Amino acid sequence: MISGENTKRHAHERYASGDPEFAIIDCERRTKFAKVPRTSVFTYVAGFAFALCTAGSIALALAADPAVLTPDSAATATMAAANRSLGHGVSFGNALDAPKEGEWGVVVEDEWFDLAAQAGFDSVRVPIRWSAHARTTPPYTIDEAFFARVDHLIAQAQRSGLPIILDVHHYQALMDDPVRHGPRFIALWQQIAKRYADEPNTVLFELLNEPSGAFDEDPTLWNELLAETIEAIRCRNPRRPIIVGPVGNNGIALLDELALPPDPNLIVSVHFYAPMAFTHQGAAFTERTRPTGVEWWPDQTSLDNAVQDQSWNTTVRPGRKALTLDFMRRYAGFSARLPDALDPTRLRVRVRGRIELAVGCTSEGELEWVDEIVLEGGEWRVLEVALDACPVDTRRIGLMNRLHGAAELDLAEVELCDTDRCRSLLVRADDAMRKQLQQAGAWGIAHGRAMHLGEFGVHGAADLASRARWTAQVQRIASEAGLSTVYWAFGTRFGIYDRDGSGWHQPMLDALLPP
Ligand code: BGC
Repeated sequence: MISGENTKRHAHERYASGDPEFAIIDCERRTKFAKVPRTSVFTYVAGFAFALCTAGSIALALAADPAVLTPDSAATATMAAANRSLGHGVSFGNALDAPKEGEWGVVVEDEWFDLAAQAGFDSVRVPIRWSAHARTTPPYTIDEAFFARVDHLIAQAQRSGLPIILDVHHYQALMDDPVRHGPRFIALWQQIAKRYADEPNTVLFELLNEPSGAFDEDPTLWNELLAETIEAIRCRNPRRPIIVGPVGNNGIALLDELALPPDPNLIVSVHFYAPMAFTHQGAAFTERTRPTGVEWWPDQTSLDNAVQDQSWNTTVRPGRKALTLDFMRRYAGFSARLPDALDPTRLRVRVRGRIELAVGCTSEGELEWVDEIVLEGGEWRVLEVALDACPVDTRRIGLMNRLHGAAELDLAEVELCDTDRCRSLLVRADDAMRKQLQQAGAWGIAHGRAMHLGEFGVHGAADLASRARWTAQVQRIASEAGLSTVYWAFGTRFGIYDRDGSGWHQPMLDALLPP
């Protein structure tokens, strides 16, 4: 047991050295010494809210739970166990994350918790748009009736024996203007943290679904805000698992932008929906509705995930034998942004189609057209295009249709070569998937963090067999890489359960919960 005075003096020293426990103790220090200088753009506005957390509750937490001060390795093991208990979960999406529950046609029913548990799911995630149920002025009070609804869902999860993840979902205004909304975000979490302080650790908090917008432009803004929010939560919830993920919509490629405080009780969440042309086909909420009819096979040819598709008026369609480019009209183009700059000497492609192709490249900005190829159609052909006219720091290459009207081109191989080596822009679909998910697993090992795949899913417009193939493959690879998973989502357009009577989509259930 640690006496208050000693703890404080101790903490003071350890705060500067970045000790993992500082958050809990510093919270007490801040409460007692309200004039501690605040360092970030968020805290000086939110500072008043720390007063909500009394020194008494902290002393109580420390006294009741001396294990707070366990060494790092033990805490890491605890988080790994908490993460394992999430196992294979499912999200009850489109309900409390709608502006009002029911507005998107989904109201969470008590029965769903039993259905999920009986089917074999290990946990549930309830996405919540708290920002639509709280005052917009300090102290940003959350509506009591809404809180009561969340209380009820927590009780249902507990009745069914399922851990439950509560997140902050669709707080778009925060992502548009983090400086203005940061204090409100922290205040929301302080209220949630206070309300559920006595719940067991099977109630997990997830800070923010898919940080993006201004956080993508400046990831340090997200890193600052997440640290301060965690610190605020820790006042009353010293060891509750908190789930937090990187910018770029929890993108795996953005994990290295994530800077976490030295708090051992964190789980890192990523989302996976690649390739979007498959998972989001027919989804009406995206910027442009993607064409349907896209299948998924593990051995199909896809664009490497590290390569960004910046095509215009062109659909890039993975296929079993080739990547097909559907140019919708004359001057429609395929454009691939490379992960690193290179000094290309030639482009080598194996192609089939009837088209007049302009080949272009650029370091930044507009593509410069450096060659033109006429293909008559028919057989596969291997073409080599000299790229000596491309800049030394080429980042983007493009193919544009010069034929009148629409045109289709199959690409079975695409290699960009510099003087030393060639790199392929195409990969097998399952290799691309494995590479990304294993990258997430490896990041967790390197950083000593438990890893969670908080969302993955396929829109119901895709054929069921392809959906199940993709889902089974993600589930398998993610589990092998040590990630707990939560499927998006139970009864939505991405769903696995038909709320109109036919029940589970059995192939999806088999994919998610293999025997
Ligand atoms: C969003 C949903 C969306 C899903 C798949 C979630 O994070 O909240 O609205 O359907 O991602 O894109």
